[in-house]
Amino acid sequence: MLQLVQGNIAGETSCAVATAANASLVGGGGVDGVIHRAAGPELLRAVRRIGGTPTGTAVVTPAFDLSRQGVRYVIHAVGPVWRGGNAGEAEALAGAYRASLRLAREQGCASVSLPSLSTGVYGYPPEKAAPIAVRTILDDLEHNGDLEVRLVLYGAEMLQTFERALAEAQG
Ligand code: APR
Repeated sequence: MLQLVQGNIAGETSCAVATAANASLVGGGGVDGVIHRAAGPELLRAVRRIGGTPTGTAVVTPAFDLSRQGVRYVIHAVGPVWRGGNAGEAEALAGAYRASLRLAREQGCASVSLPSLSTGVYGYPPEKAAPIAVRTILDDLEHNGDLEVRLVLYGAEMLQTFERALAEAQG
């Protein structure tokens, strides 16, 4: 089941919560800053130990202080930087979502919350990113079985963009 909600990803209580990381994993602005502040300094130590992951992939760590609200894992997903659309951005964006859902499943999670990857600092146009996010998630749910997926969207406009994309994907 895919749910679109407007809000702050740091308030989520899903088994796994994803953050929009960079390939070195130690970024820190936007969603990543919010997640790191909520999870505490152990999270930075954990991603430093991992060291990095390529664009279009994701890694998983414990949730540290976020476990106070029931979150067990943080998934660090690396979306692409927008370079105009002909540099493999769509495949990388889909890959980051796919990897995030796979990691959540591998950890035995029945629920996962994700932000809209790449649509902040990385500059991916939301009206282009939303259909990819929605289609990739629906496709995963269809092929790999059900999972409670919450896309947590920041602001009414982003929510509307994703609602349009979901309506179109569902035909
Ligand atoms: N909850 C949910 N969504 C949020 C929140 C929040 N608290 N704060 C921001 N957003 C939204 C933004 O509006 C944007 O649409 O998350 C989306 C992703 O924005 P970024 O966090 O900037 O992520 P991204 O575009 O993938 O850029 C990643 O930013 O923090 C650095 O280290 C990170 O270099 C990497 C880059």
